[in-house]
Amino acid sequence: MSSHGDPIPMTSRKTRNLRGTAHVPGDKSISHRSLILGALSVGETTIDGLLEGQDVLDTASAMRAFGAEVTDHGGGRWSVHGVGVGGFAEPDQVIDCGNSGTGVRLIMGAMATSPITATFTGDASLNSRPMGRVTDPLALFGAQSYGREGGRLPLTIVGAADPVPVRYEVPVPSAQVKSAVLLAGLNAPGQTVVIEKEATRDHTERMLAGFGAELSVTEEDGKRVITLTGQPELQPQSIIVPRDPSSAAFPVCAALIVEGSDVLVPNIGLNPTRAGLFYTLQDMGADLVFENPREEGGEPVADLRARFSPDMKGIEVPPDRAASMIDEYPVLSVVAAFAEGKTHMPGVKELRVKESDRIDAMAQGLRAAGLTVDEGEDWWTVHGLGHGKVPGGATVESRLDHRIAMSFLVLGMASEQPVKVDDAGPIATSFPIFERLMADLGARIERANG
Ligand code: S3P
Repeated sequence: MSSHGDPIPMTSRKTRNLRGTAHVPGDKSISHRSLILGALSVGETTIDGLLEGQDVLDTASAMRAFGAEVTDHGGGRWSVHGVGVGGFAEPDQVIDCGNSGTGVRLIMGAMATSPITATFTGDASLNSRPMGRVTDPLALFGAQSYGREGGRLPLTIVGAADPVPVRYEVPVPSAQVKSAVLLAGLNAPGQTVVIEKEATRDHTERMLAGFGAELSVTEEDGKRVITLTGQPELQPQSIIVPRDPSSAAFPVCAALIVEGSDVLVPNIGLNPTRAGLFYTLQDMGADLVFENPREEGGEPVADLRARFSPDMKGIEVPPDRAASMIDEYPVLSVVAAFAEGKTHMPGVKELRVKESDRIDAMAQGLRAAGLTVDEGEDWWTVHGLGHGKVPGGATVESRLDHRIAMSFLVLGMASEQPVKVDDAGPIATSFPIFERLMADLGARIERANG
């Protein structure tokens, strides 16, 4: 929903001994896709472990608006009675995707090759984010779009009545753009080809194949080439959503920087297109172990055990790892503050167009908390002070960005003075149980001024 309630300020104080087991919610990327692909199948898809964060709830509402029956059975079990590829009805209301770039971009793709018109909007954060990266390739299918200056939301898409398949090389590393083109390709006759220079998260490809679409992935000249045959009849599925590695990042990183901690985060999906943060933390010297590695639903899964790691060192984060940890740089920069020496993070221009400009949001907050941070358009460097030496004592802005809010609350768990976040409300978009889960581990997070 675009209406954001009253700000919820929170203060996080230094603590010790985070202990216990942290069951984080279902994966956000897979949750969005489960609802959308369920809606594009013929018959009933069941989803267990759906993330019930606001972003995903907004996608569920959108699928209802396009004609699918979406039911919440309680306890994380949902079902979607789909209308089939090409079966979307024209919504009679504006589609409000709230804070979610993934929701709006994937849904725009899914409707763009049907002869219907839909208008999309979101909150102040989403309405400032670039949409041309999606509407440009959708135009190649024959869809028209009318948005605000710079192609921003609110934006109307007139779907193509006679779509043609496309061949499109994605100009920026973006799973959302790739997925929007593939979802649009579903209702175009013939083969739609998407090419990516850098591999981004591949949930859409895996799930499309799982729903019965004909899809192949090959490598040509070092690029990933995805070929989808249009107009399949997608078969409904029973989906068990793995737990979100991007949410796991918060209790894991908190355990690494809080003295005396030992935290288990079970059942985390370690798809290589998502797991970059954990390898980076290990490279820094973190005591982070993958226990009980196994495979579930075709995805690698493990239980993560993170223990206090007072001797971490700053590193050069390999730029070719960026796509696999793009949402984790904010919390990595917090860990970097507690490591000795510089952590340099190059090749991350995309961070500037997330829910907020994440380089700017983190750099300003970290500086207010006593750190030195250097930045350029597509890189930043945090000068780590080491354990026990990060001052804190700042009030920071979350800028409608859940990951900024959670990252600074993690910072406050180990800095000398408390850290206050002006509005922790956005956390509900992706990790609605964050406050309780962290409190159960022993974090000292309080609402209101402290
Ligand atoms: C996502 C892709 C990424 C990521 C976002 C989720 C997805 O965005 O930042 O949180 O589910 O496809 P980009 O495609 O903009 O890189």
